[in-house]
Amino acid sequence: MRPKPNRDNLQKILRHPQLILDSLKNLDQANLSKNHINIHLKKLSKFQPEIKALEPIEKVCKAIDILSNPCYPTEYLYLVCKIFNPAVFVETGVCYGGSSAFILKGLENTNGRLYSIDLPNISYKRDSGNLHKDDIPENLKSGFIVPSQLRFNWNLILGDSKIELPKLMKFIDRPINIFHHDSMHTYDFMMFEFETVFPKLSSGGILLSDDADWNGAFEDFCRKNSLKHCIYHGKGIAIKT
Ligand SMILES: C[S@@+](CC[C@H](N)C(=O)[O-])C[C@H]1O[C@@H](n2cnc3c(N)ncnc32)[C@H](O)[C@@H]1O
Repeated sequence: MRPKPNRDNLQKILRHPQLILDSLKNLDQANLSKNHINIHLKKLSKFQPEIKALEPIEKVCKAIDILSNPCYPTEYLYLVCKIFNPAVFVETGVCYGGSSAFILKGLENTNGRLYSIDLPNISYKRDSGNLHKDDIPENLKSGFIVPSQLRFNWNLILGDSKIELPKLMKFIDRPINIFHHDSMHTYDFMMFEFETVFPKLSSGGILLSDDADWNGAFEDFCRKNSLKHCIYHGKGIAIKT
């Protein structure tokens, strides 16, 4: 399938002129997206962060400062893995696979494992009442941009997090070091995911939420559990003590 000349593709091409050649070659959507993430992943290989003597929340904020990116808002998760070296990372919401690719790149050459849950192509009503959908291009699967060499320590579970997340909590026999929410951003659903994961989060474990400023769920959950937390550039960061 040829890539659509939509805003997203045009922005990718403008930010990365290497992709102009791909588009001239009539590359399909899957390969255009794969080449795009590879440009980012290649750059990360040379990246060895020096983030010392900071509190854990400040370290995550620093990672966001260093790797905040209009193409991939979750690229900072690579640095989070490099800094905290998690053995078990759980995320909800995969879509193309940007966050998964950066986490897996950060876990490369470690024993760390990533568990991801995604229910592709569903639409839902935001708390504001607007309809929301994150589409995957036709005939492609959740996580299609994750390079094959990064997939060996990855469990990708396709299904509704409402069902799959509680099952996964029973399946994983170790504490979870980092959880990242990026699936359905409604108050009730976010609260459900935080409450489901929290008992399995290790002491010192990190709870992250994309779009934590869409509603009050992250703030309310952290207050209820007396967690040190902040919302930084829309991303919720909390530490379990
Ligand atoms: C914002 S996208 C994820 C983006 C990804 N984390 C990244 O940074 O590249 C949200 C994804 O969550 C999925 N999703 C929405 N509701 C879900 C649910 N109830 N269970 C599992 N996945 C869900 C959507 O279909 C979509 O694929």
